[in-house]
Amino acid sequence: MNRRYRKTIIAGNWKMNKTATETKALVEDVKQRVAKSKWCEVVLCVPFVDIPAAVRQTKDCRIAIGAQNLHEEVSGAYTGEISGAMLKDLGVKYVIIGHSERRQYFGETDQTVAKKVGAALDAGLKAIVCVGETLAQRDMDVTMELIALQVKSALNAVPTTEELKRIVFAYEPVWAIGTGRTATAEQAAEVCTFIRALIRKKYGARAARGVTIQYGGSMNAQNADELLAQLDVDGGLIGGASLKPEDFAAIVQAANQ
Ligand code: 13P
Repeated sequence: MNRRYRKTIIAGNWKMNKTATETKALVEDVKQRVAKSKWCEVVLCVPFVDIPAAVRQTKDCRIAIGAQNLHEEVSGAYTGEISGAMLKDLGVKYVIIGHSERRQYFGETDQTVAKKVGAALDAGLKAIVCVGETLAQRDMDVTMELIALQVKSALNAVPTTEELKRIVFAYEPVWAIGTGRTATAEQAAEVCTFIRALIRKKYGARAARGVTIQYGGSMNAQNADELLAQLDVDGGLIGGASLKPEDFAAIVQAANQ
């Protein structure tokens, strides 16, 4: 973390968990536990149908609500899809884009991700753009090339430093997601620093140092301190632990140190 220049953000990604009825109690529990979060912004990215309940439950606090996806078009004949404007209208502030599960199971490519980033910006949302390599790619030593492709492609949809202010990156090595296998603090820092260098090349040092870059992948109460101690790791995108209020709050607390 480096709070002098950028926001620390801990975001929960609930994935496909919790009904709207369950959302109320879970958000309330989290809300009580993170009420004192002073330095770190807390975001809960919930399933689409849980958004109204989550927004209602967080009206009187600083927790921001996020979605986990959006469609790249503004409106039209796209049965089953949700637009940025629909999310914005519900009070959503953030949207996760290009999560590895979307890339893996729903065929999202760097091109789709770029279109979605553009759509999110057009709708007035902040985007949490996920990038990360598979184990095979790490073993083949192409991690940095792959990250560069993913980051540069997403940034094609970000024309100026003004839009860049609404972009958060999340480095999520695919092999660390849901596996209990966390990247070491050094591995996480190496890639997050590299992402910032890519941003710097395009927008300059001042803009790059303002961008929040999160780590995600089996981040928990035990390893959060060490990961967040890295200067270029500005927060976390939390899957499993975000469904356990005590664990999630402990991560938020680590981010407030
Ligand atoms: P886990 O924290 O369950 O590994 O999930 C990480 C993730 O995919 C967050 O987007």
